[in-house]
Amino acid sequence: MPAPDLETIANLSKKRGFVFPASEIYGGLRSSWDYGPLGAELLRNIREAWWKAMVLDRSDIVGLDSSILQSRQVWVASGHEESFTDPLVECSNCNSRHRFDKLEDVDQCPNCGERGTLGEPRAFHLMLKTFLGPVEDDAAVTYLRPETAQGIFINYENVRRTARLRLPFGIAQIGKAFRNEITPGQFVFRTREFEQMEMEFFCRAEDADEWHRFWLEARMQWYLDLGMHPDRLRLRPHDPDELAHYAAATSDVEYEFPWGWDELEGIANRTDFDLRAHSEASGEDLRYYDQEADERFYPYVIEPAAGVTRSAFAFLIDAYEEEEVRGETRVVLKLHPRLAPVKVAVLPLSKKDELVEVTEEVAALLRPHWPIEVDVTQSIGRRYRRQDEIGTPYCVTIDFDTLDDRAVTVRDRDTMEQDRVAIDGVAPHLADKFAATL
Ligand code: GAP
Repeated sequence: MPAPDLETIANLSKKRGFVFPASEIYGGLRSSWDYGPLGAELLRNIREAWWKAMVLDRSDIVGLDSSILQSRQVWVASGHEESFTDPLVECSNCNSRHRFDKLEDVDQCPNCGERGTLGEPRAFHLMLKTFLGPVEDDAAVTYLRPETAQGIFINYENVRRTARLRLPFGIAQIGKAFRNEITPGQFVFRTREFEQMEMEFFCRAEDADEWHRFWLEARMQWYLDLGMHPDRLRLRPHDPDELAHYAAATSDVEYEFPWGWDELEGIANRTDFDLRAHSEASGEDLRYYDQEADERFYPYVIEPAAGVTRSAFAFLIDAYEEEEVRGETRVVLKLHPRLAPVKVAVLPLSKKDELVEVTEEVAALLRPHWPIEVDVTQSIGRRYRRQDEIGTPYCVTIDFDTLDDRAVTVRDRDTMEQDRVAIDGVAPHLADKFAATL
């Protein structure tokens, strides 16, 4: 089935409680979104899958949680204050503003369609400025971080020393980032507040190309392991004129979004730009000392930089399917079980007290192991449909036979096959099923 359109995903997200417009009761912000109960779980599962792959499963990478607010000097030294801009053009006919580098036709306003009305591109600064302390003067200026990466560079020596790391090694971080995007949009794809998962991998300059290739492959594999359609993923190397001010080479992992191929993650060779820049600006020697060779040098950095919120969006699109079942359309989110917000739904066939009692008993057996949902309202068909739409891998149904045989029905989201399983064996049965998907 082709990918669903944007509106279908946005509607499902709102209807089921994945994503709501920020400040909705005041008309919405368009550039920010709030994540509801299911969205919060989905984001948490994405973070956990990334952290496991990048930190817990590796002996050469450690984690960090640095501040959003840092000294302004960080952004001066990193080059962001001077160079972190997008080219902005304004239409003299309808006054709309656009990113020059994203225009399909540089001569035509995408808003009103007029030709020859777009002015000269000018550099528009993307960092969100703020003031620290009670006085709003120049000395109090700093920025909300536009990337989590700088928090890693400025802590490089603290982490290296305390974790006793030797090259090559990596430092990983997940956290919020902020950009005053000219054209936020396409639902949660481009927002002004978003969340990143970034890892800076420090290595010798002569090994940088090899590590770059390694991380390109590893990061593609991460999306595939979480069930993404291989034909909707590709790697695209940047043209030289696209490269960020710090990068010698970058390739994007791209996903085929409803509007076409677009960036999911960037994997850059940042050379020794950042450590060198912070050394020079701060006066702290951030060179690495190799005892055996008795030499000091600035390590090179390979950086896989992904978005939590953007990945969540891509996983939702990728999982969405519509199927014909007995003459009806079944909407199902075939999310990988590791990403599914609810792992198991426990559903009594009717609201009768004796069934609800057993439902609570089964729920108590499952709750210590997985996020579960107990749903006693509406017809069983409608409840299955709701669980399919939110991607719940298994439904456990308690029926009137359960009262006699102490067994329940386990329904598989993808195949809709049903197994009869003893109540005492239902947790191990589901544990086996989940283990088989890892
Ligand atoms: N430290 C490098 C860096 O920040 P980037 O390509 O600008 O690189 C990395 O950002 C990832 O962060 C992107 O691939 C995307 O997933 C996410 N991202 C960037 N800007 C975003 C925005 N405005 N809204 C949502 N996600 C964004």
